[in-house]
Amino acid sequence: MSILNLVYAPATVLEKKAHEVKNIDKSLKSFVNNMFDTMYKNNGVGLAAPQVNESLQVIVMDCSSKNKESNPRVLLNPKIINQSDTCKEYEEGCLSFPDHYFSISRPDSLNVKFLDLEGNKKETFFSGFEAVCVQHEIDHLSGTLFTSYISRLKRQIILKKMQKFKKNINKSI
Ligand code: NI
Repeated sequence: MSILNLVYAPATVLEKKAHEVKNIDKSLKSFVNNMFDTMYKNNGVGLAAPQVNESLQVIVMDCSSKNKESNPRVLLNPKIINQSDTCKEYEEGCLSFPDHYFSISRPDSLNVKFLDLEGNKKETFFSGFEAVCVQHEIDHLSGTLFTSYISRLKRQIILKKMQKFKKNINKSI
């Protein structure tokens, strides 16, 4: 197992549609383990493969709170099949945008179909914080970032801040 490098915005891999998973093999399973390690190490609750520079439709999540048992989930090729009409606002963060948080309104529950790591077709109902997380991560697979839900002006400001942030990282390496 190893910790993968996070891709910070702006980056092309974060803005394009990820490829469908076709082969569920050993290397995919070890990649998923590395994604979990990377997510936990960075105190994240969800991670999509493009965020570690793999344009693949793979999501890992664990939305359990600190005091509760962990609840790791892996979703391959996830598709939203229906969403509630009622929405809820939630303050979201993203590992590709360190230290930026925005209040975003999304449907408060939904059903998602996906493949699990054994290749079984699954359908799961998500609500509450998990619903927020799964929608945020599925967005990543189509190249949609959470900044697409905020105003254009705000988005431009964040983009400038992220460009500066990336420059500073490169300097310190
Ligand atoms: Ni994100």
